[in-house]
Amino acid sequence: MRKSGRSEEEVLRELEEMWNSRIPYERVFSSMCTKPHPIAVKAFLLFIESNLGDFGIFPSVKELEDKVVSISAELLGIKKFCGYMTSGGTEANIQALRALRNVKRGKNFIAPKSRHFSIDKASDILGVEMKIAPLNEEYQVDVSALEEMIDENTFGIVALAGSTELGQIDPLEEISKMASECDIPVHVDAAFGAFVIPFIDELDVNFSLPSISSISGDPHKMGMSVIPSGILLFSEEKYMDAIKVRTPYLTTKHQYSLPGTRPGASAAATYAVFEHLGKEGYRKIVERCMRNTKLIIELMEELGFEPVIEPKMNIVTFEMEDIDRIREELKKRRWLVSKSLNPLGMRLVIMPHVEEENLKLFVEDLKRII
Ligand SMILES: Cc1ncc(COP(=O)(O)O)c(C=O)c1O
Repeated sequence: MRKSGRSEEEVLRELEEMWNSRIPYERVFSSMCTKPHPIAVKAFLLFIESNLGDFGIFPSVKELEDKVVSISAELLGIKKFCGYMTSGGTEANIQALRALRNVKRGKNFIAPKSRHFSIDKASDILGVEMKIAPLNEEYQVDVSALEEMIDENTFGIVALAGSTELGQIDPLEEISKMASECDIPVHVDAAFGAFVIPFIDELDVNFSLPSISSISGDPHKMGMSVIPSGILLFSEEKYMDAIKVRTPYLTTKHQYSLPGTRPGASAAATYAVFEHLGKEGYRKIVERCMRNTKLIIELMEELGFEPVIEPKMNIVTFEMEDIDRIREELKKRRWLVSKSLNPLGMRLVIMPHVEEENLKLFVEDLKRII
């Protein structure tokens, strides 16, 4: 650290230059996060000092967290729930599996090949084995294969409602039925899907099924909130209790979250955007994303690329052998796309910041490259 400080103006100028050097979100088709809604930013700034990890000092943030949790549960059609706000999908996945492991005391869990890598982190941190279930032709988990992998040490199953690479949804009804027969709880990772699925009429997903023990969803993805904002819902108190620790020196008696200190500002921001947009506001945003997803498919089909699956949500992936080269060339032209591994291809996430005009410009550049 410097001996004496620089002026505020100088420091902020340096930061502004750094910030301005990024590729703006308008040209980013690789991110599941987006520009937060302006009201979320305002609410975040209003609560910037607050700490949800010691909410006795800031009681209103606990109230806001509870409101965010119950609004999310209602949105997903879940009547009986408890939960808390996480830092995002990674914390939620780790904590959900930690709860299941602590309740069932098993040594392994099963996750689909399409899982997010945060599940691998959970397996490592918890020191438990992760068995990987194969997918069917539609890139959903193969439920019969999954069933065969269950043994006496299995404490949980992970299913996806919006896979990272394809936005695919696992057959939750079938998984729930099988898991109930085997008495194994299921964690549904809906980090992306939770704030998309309720706004697409054709996606009639029931999250309130037997054996679904937890669901995660991220307001900092399609919820238009600030980073970090995640939600973890449990179907029964026993799972929440299984991750409870005592906090003797704080204003609160116990804590459930993985981090200790955590932003109450996220709860304020997420509550603000939920209240401001309402279901109608979110529906309009999702409809626009889906229209743009259809548009990019049409434009890509003109170039000879077919989507791997008919997209369920605003994520679309096209098989592409030389994706690494294409991705590099696109980056030189200031477009960011991601690479999917299963199957190898170009993955585009058509977030609310993606404009129709930019999709057309992007495809023109892509045409030149290929
Ligand atoms: C399905 C899924 N789960 C979990 C995560 C992890 O979320 P986060 O990056 O907010 O920790 C992601 C992130 O892309 C995801 O797509």
